[in-house]
Amino acid sequence: MTVRIAIIGTGYVGLVSGACFAELGHDVVCVDKVASKIDMLNSGGIPIYEPGLEEIVRRNSAAGRLRFTTSVTEAVQRCDAVFIAVGTPTKSDSDHADLSYVYAAAEEIAKSITGFTVVVSKSTVPVGTNRRVLEICRANIGENAQVAVASNPEFLREGAAINDFMCPDRIVVGADDQRAQEVMERIYSPLTISRNVPLISTSTETAELTKYAANAFLAAKISFINEMADLCEAVGANINDVSLGIGLDSRIGRRFLNTGPGWGGSCFPKDTRALLATAEQNNVNCKIVQAALEANEDRKRLMIEKVIHACGGAVNGKRIAVFGLTFKGQTDDMRESTSLVLLPALAQLGAQICAFDPSDPHEASELIGNINTCKTPEQAAEGADLLVILTDWMIFKTYDLKQLAAQMRRAHMLDLRNMYSSTEALAAGFTNYTGLGMPPTKRPALLAVAE
Ligand code: UGA
Repeated sequence: MTVRIAIIGTGYVGLVSGACFAELGHDVVCVDKVASKIDMLNSGGIPIYEPGLEEIVRRNSAAGRLRFTTSVTEAVQRCDAVFIAVGTPTKSDSDHADLSYVYAAAEEIAKSITGFTVVVSKSTVPVGTNRRVLEICRANIGENAQVAVASNPEFLREGAAINDFMCPDRIVVGADDQRAQEVMERIYSPLTISRNVPLISTSTETAELTKYAANAFLAAKISFINEMADLCEAVGANINDVSLGIGLDSRIGRRFLNTGPGWGGSCFPKDTRALLATAEQNNVNCKIVQAALEANEDRKRLMIEKVIHACGGAVNGKRIAVFGLTFKGQTDDMRESTSLVLLPALAQLGAQICAFDPSDPHEASELIGNINTCKTPEQAAEGADLLVILTDWMIFKTYDLKQLAAQMRRAHMLDLRNMYSSTEALAAGFTNYTGLGMPPTKRPALLAVAE
């Protein structure tokens, strides 16, 4: 049965969720205060980079199931459920999440609702936020309106958000009110009934904490494998095989065991810090999450040493080609990317950085400073002394490594995502290949002479 839904905030979470709810058949209105964003969406544009989103927005807008407006009142009146999907950035003076946008949205929604409406938090919010949202709503609703709250955290990955929404491992709904629970079950029924996706019903506090626990666990999993990669390098073992060897144990699982240059993005760093702030406030010592965060900060700095080493001990005067600037592949997002730590440090040490990123993030030069951003991979590789693979863009796998190696002054590759194998890189003409968590390899001198 169709549910009338309003989504407050057309950022990443709001826009993807709104478009996907419409795709499931619901009647959706997305709201944003920024008029230029709404104008863009109304004229068929998409303000964020997410594979597959444009098509879903276009299809559902054309079908009349998805609309965009700047007016909360217009969107919220007569809605069954209103999702809050506004930002919860880290506060400037502490590691706590800044909830001012969530509370402001709750107040505005409450003033506009009529009849029974469920106000749902999609934004990642600390434990207890939904209780406060309920208080704010109750203090601001009109005489004939009734309100209940629910927490419905999202588990979408940038770059894979549509698939994560449509084929989730689970849906978590925290609601202390039976009617709210029923509305949420109706919203997700196309997934729970047709696709057998499990829906876990909890208290609001449990749902709120589940989101932080999921992100903290995944972040810790990556920090763990990164630590094992360092150990592999020290003892001559291979991390790819270690990951496979432990990941095939179904208790551990294969995903999120790829070693890399440190995790970034708008979620893991912010959410682990916020979880630690909540733990401290409640006098609980979350040592594992603390260690995962610290290890990750160290890891980003460790990458500076790796590049210096791959350049033979000094980067001054070296031309370094860098593939990938964003925090991971398939996104244009640079938030908390390792590139922001690594590249300014290398430039400071006198390296000439020529960076290429398929998403061409417009703020790259502004954020990093002294680097050349190139329009093509070939431009970046031309005359380089080292090629650094920094982001795991799938498209890199289709590049002609032979051509890239031939263009370089010194064909050395430092693969910080283990995207290539040493065999592949050396066969393409690279003379040295260094991945993470494995012994570096050189092209046998005889082979080079024979060619
Ligand atoms: C993450 C979670 O994966 C989502 O479930 C969650 O909904 C989202 O945060 C959120 O809270 O909104 P996202 O930040 O898009 O999603 O990115 P991930 O794909 O999780 O990657 C995070 C970082 O970990 C990236 O820097 C990535 O390169 C790194 N990573 C990931 C690794 O280094 N190794 C891996 O095996 C996986």
